[in-house]
Amino acid sequence: MGANLARNIARHGIPIAVHNRTAARTRRFLERHGAEGPIDGYDSLERWIGALARPRVVISMVTAGEATDAVIEQVAPHLDVGDVLIDGGNAHFRDTQRRHAALAARGVHFIGAGISGGEEGALNGPSIMPGGDREPYERRVAAIFEAVAARYDGEPCCAYVGPDGAGHYVKMVHNGIEYADMQLIAESYDLLRYGAGLDLEQIAQRFRAWNDSELSSFLIEITARVLAKVDAASGRPLVDVILDQAEQKGTGRWTAQDALERGVPLTGIAEAVFARTLSARREERKQAAARLRGPARAGGGADQRLAEDLKWALYASKIVAYAQGFAQLATASLQEGWGVELASMASIWRAGCIIRARLLDRIREAFAAEPDLPNLMLADFFARALADAQEPWRRVVARAAELGIPAPALASSLAYYDGYRRARGPASLIQGLRDLFGAHTYRRIDRAGSFHTLWAEDGREVEV
Ligand code: 6PG
Repeated sequence: MGANLARNIARHGIPIAVHNRTAARTRRFLERHGAEGPIDGYDSLERWIGALARPRVVISMVTAGEATDAVIEQVAPHLDVGDVLIDGGNAHFRDTQRRHAALAARGVHFIGAGISGGEEGALNGPSIMPGGDREPYERRVAAIFEAVAARYDGEPCCAYVGPDGAGHYVKMVHNGIEYADMQLIAESYDLLRYGAGLDLEQIAQRFRAWNDSELSSFLIEITARVLAKVDAASGRPLVDVILDQAEQKGTGRWTAQDALERGVPLTGIAEAVFARTLSARREERKQAAARLRGPARAGGGADQRLAEDLKWALYASKIVAYAQGFAQLATASLQEGWGVELASMASIWRAGCIIRARLLDRIREAFAAEPDLPNLMLADFFARALADAQEPWRRVVARAAELGIPAPALASSLAYYDGYRRARGPASLIQGLRDLFGAHTYRRIDRAGSFHTLWAEDGREVEV
């Protein structure tokens, strides 16, 4: 990704000097791409840093974690007060906050930039989410990032997010939404194939058609491509020869962990993470398949209605995934004091990134009209879309349960919608139980204060 981002920068006529831990790599890079723009390469770190115009702008593109700390340790001693060091990896925002504080103590500005779009995006235009010190960012970095970023309606998909770890936080939530989206797509594919009885070509065709509808998005588009791919070695559909174990580098898990810590209901993304971990337990699943019985009524026959309904179940659940992700962003921004503009984030996700989708235009509009909207589902457009989709959505979840085909993200999204629109839920019983077994007290609907019932005595209530 680093190499592609460097080429992208150079192709925009912006002078760039590159350095790699392995000198041979730098040389190979220069041989292949040196003519694409004003690119220089250096074997020695000292000479590389020395060659940069001051105040320097250094971009590190290494694997998140220890490698990032190692780069900072090597580079920082060569930087001067006022220089800018950018981490373009998928760092955890707490690490970015720590690094930001440590470098600030040396007078160096640290920018944590989320960069989405994979290899192809890095070369042709990614979505960029930079966080850190605003003034040096605007002065030294914004022009470079805005030149290389993807464009939507002529606008660059890059906007300053907020201080210290805000950029990497937004990228983390982006990836969380990416997890939920992919899980929803996988569940839809599963139900189309083993519930509605469609073959792979028909399913690929359906995803192509969905990509021309309100579901239009990069992930839907590439799903059709993956499903249509034939494995050259075996002649079988590629999706049938790939092991059914999803891997993860960790950003989805971080998003779910962070939601738990902040008390944000993030069911779709959490289910997506758990579904990946269940998929990883392949040996256990194979043994369970031989022991645990499913429903008597097996599916698999043609079910045209299920196939039609799935479009709306997927659409509604996708809205929920964004609603939950944006609610988490809003909560974190408030708690961390970042001032993240949600409309601006929706705006820079409209092109270049993995979760780019037609829906994001509407999301941007919703938060632009009402920046403090507590939940995206409350915006007129989305409230109507969810209401319109709910009947097929409910049928899909019910049918999946009947057929014994797991649809955790579709089902939990519906449960979230139903839980959120409920003015009074069953938590009063939970409070009653807590009070009975642990004297944890409860609050009443008709009086202020905390109360405890003397369960073992005469049932009297005492205010505590
Ligand atoms: C992006 C992607 C990118 C990467 C993920 C995959 O925005 O370009 O999200 O960051 O593909 O790291 O993450 P997992 O390995 O956790 O699925």
